[in-house]
Amino acid sequence: MEKHKKTEIYLAPIQGITNKVYVDTYHERFEGVDYYCAPFIKVQLPKLAKRKRKKLALPEAKQNIPLIPQILSNDSREFYQFDQELQELGYQEFNWNLGCPVRMVANKKRGSGLLPHADRIKTILDEVMGNLHCRLSIKTRLGFTNSEEVLALIPIFNQYPIQALIIHPRIGKQMYAGQVDLKRFAECLALSNHPVVYNGDIFNVAAYNTLQKQFPQINKWMLGRGILANPFLPAQIKGWESGQTNKLERIIQFHENYSSQYEKILSGPTHIVDKLKEFWSFGHHVFEEGNSFYQQLKKARHYDAYKIMVRKFFATQPVVRDHVSVNSMDFM
Ligand SMILES: Cc1cc2nc3c(=O)[nH]c(=O)nc-3n(C[C@H](O)[C@H](O)[C@H](O)COP(=O)(O)O)c2cc1C
Repeated sequence: MEKHKKTEIYLAPIQGITNKVYVDTYHERFEGVDYYCAPFIKVQLPKLAKRKRKKLALPEAKQNIPLIPQILSNDSREFYQFDQELQELGYQEFNWNLGCPVRMVANKKRGSGLLPHADRIKTILDEVMGNLHCRLSIKTRLGFTNSEEVLALIPIFNQYPIQALIIHPRIGKQMYAGQVDLKRFAECLALSNHPVVYNGDIFNVAAYNTLQKQFPQINKWMLGRGILANPFLPAQIKGWESGQTNKLERIIQFHENYSSQYEKILSGPTHIVDKLKEFWSFGHHVFEEGNSFYQQLKKARHYDAYKIMVRKFFATQPVVRDHVSVNSMDFM
């Protein structure tokens, strides 16, 4: 029975954070993630800009990181272009973003803005499936304006050999507000012929256990903000003791590697501070004193001041929580 299959965890793409630097550093320091889905790339024809290509290229030594790039597109030609570039870089799979709720994206019928247009989705799949070198998976929401849109889409997806169907059970208009719609998700699960990956609001082991009980047939889970808030969560979910030792030390080491990589890439100390603040906007949740520290940190303008504050915080031996108790809007 499906329910005895090994639990697989995907890191969700979070634009601005879970890029190459984060994935490299996370993979080295923490355990439990099986696949990393990279934030979306918008393909510009006829060739991916050099900057975007660089985003995708993994250093030689890190080729073993299971990274899945993602396309944000409503144009078959862009799929071919992306596929070709990825093939040259050694990838075997990419993901189609049908979930992005950002208004500027959705208004152009991309991401979740494409979900009300089932015909267009079908045309793209007709054109590209069978013509790609890479395998394709899909990451979707339930719809853009209403959650029934997905019910028209799943029978279409079922006609193609899609690698996996990742579902975040909210609609685009919701952004990250309100509850995930588990009733509609259950309908999707019943309708789909593909391996379904659940994604949304798993911020601690208790939330995972509740969902696992409700959907015992699912063994693939995608977690985004929950991992950024508590990098030990995948190991906790899998019940791996080794993944949970020396917590503070491992976070300190992670932060050191992460910031030193950005020191090399970003020019100007304020850029680095802004980038690292983004990381702390999620990362503070795992510390009992995290919120007051983060409020202070937000005021830091210079990298030297930032480093002093972080060093002091770590030196006071902050308590690393096992259980992060937050809801979706706490991240906004
Ligand atoms: C700041 C931010 C950026 C995101 N960027 C992407 C993206 O590039 N591609 C994508 O498919 N989803 C993106 N997402 C959605 C997440 O991958 C995920 O579906 C969502 O956060 C729900 O999962 P979670 O509750 O485990 O975080 C983003 C979410 C946030 C909050």
